[in-house]
Amino acid sequence: MSSKLEAIGIAKRYGDSVALEPTDLVVQAGEFLTLLGPSGSGKTTLLQMISGLVAPSAGRIEIDGRDVTHVEPGKRGIGMVFQSYALFPHMSVWDNVAYGLRMRRKSRDEVRAAVDDALAMVRMSEYAKRFPKELSGGQQQRIALARCFAYRPSVILLDEPLGALDKKLREHMQAEIRSLHKELGATFVYVTHDQDEALTLSDRICLMNQARIEQVGTPADLYDRPATRFAAGFIGHSNLLEGELDATRGASGEPILLAAGGRIPLPTGASGAHATRHTLLLRPEAPRIVEPQSGFVDGTISDVVFFGSDTRVHLSMSDGSELTVRCGRSVSPRVGDRVGLTWDPHRTTLLHA
Ligand SMILES: Nc1ncnc2c1ncn2[C@@H]1O[C@H](COP(=O)(O)OP(=O)(O)OP(=O)(O)O)[C@@H](O)[C@H]1O
Ligand SMILES: [Mg+2]
Repeated sequence: MSSKLEAIGIAKRYGDSVALEPTDLVVQAGEFLTLLGPSGSGKTTLLQMISGLVAPSAGRIEIDGRDVTHVEPGKRGIGMVFQSYALFPHMSVWDNVAYGLRMRRKSRDEVRAAVDDALAMVRMSEYAKRFPKELSGGQQQRIALARCFAYRPSVILLDEPLGALDKKLREHMQAEIRSLHKELGATFVYVTHDQDEALTLSDRICLMNQARIEQVGTPADLYDRPATRFAAGFIGHSNLLEGELDATRGASGEPILLAAGGRIPLPTGASGAHATRHTLLLRPEAPRIVEPQSGFVDGTISDVVFFGSDTRVHLSMSDGSELTVRCGRSVSPRVGDRVGLTWDPHRTTLLHA
């Protein structure tokens, strides 16, 4: 079961300070939407207004078209999981998971079936009799998830639920959360400031910055077509090439950016007045290293960093800028080599200021 969630002009102020500017957001039924953004950008504030734990200063929240702005948190049909697992230390795993169901006055049989089911879902059935302090961090987090899933909420809000786990366990739990989302079919709103986590998990990402939404889109939208410099810088590594549009066009009539000491063809359709400053986003995996003077730009290799699956090559360009290029293992770049770079202009994006 899943519900459509809508925030309409929702805003939060604390005295003179703005925690969230008036914001509109729609989360489709069954969708996995991630709120991503730097610390203090308003992610938790938005999530808590959806949950009802924080009252908005303006605007409203709708669930399946019903205004719930003044409905108390426990009656919104929303489940919540936080970074601190907040399990009851004096209760067994089984009783922790049963807690929400007992609060909702389910029958004994219903409680038993739902707890067993939720524990099986997070693969913790054999830990039912243990106490929270007898579990690892990842196991505790799974119990926190089971406790939320047990009463089958149609909307589940998760605020940095994997924040306290180490990298390996985090990646494992990300995969689990993905499959649990599929299994439950509920609408998930997930908060993280980890861009990789957002890219792996989400149907759509809502990127937040300074108390407002910067961009909403699929992971591919945000990676391939960031709308702003902030979006380009926050998601993935980005080379930002600054320059001016040339008055003359390229051989096929394409606009040309004078940047990084070269003439760089822009994607067809890119527009802007010439002689004004523009920024081009070039992802590190787009360029190919070629002979000097046979690409769009030339540079000197200043550093080569081995990353296991690939190698990052840093280049100093003739205008003093730096570019990073990712290469496969087949090339063997050497520091000090002079090389050219070429790429498909359609893999670049002209950014708005
Ligand atoms: N109870 C409060 N009183 C005053 N200001 C608050 C309160 N709660 C949050 N804020 C402010 O609102 C802004 C947004 O905070 P919020 O907790 O939503 O950020 P966040 O994006 O979740 O950050 P983080 O990644 O650090 O958790 C911050 O500037 C914060 O200081
Ligand atoms: Mg937060």
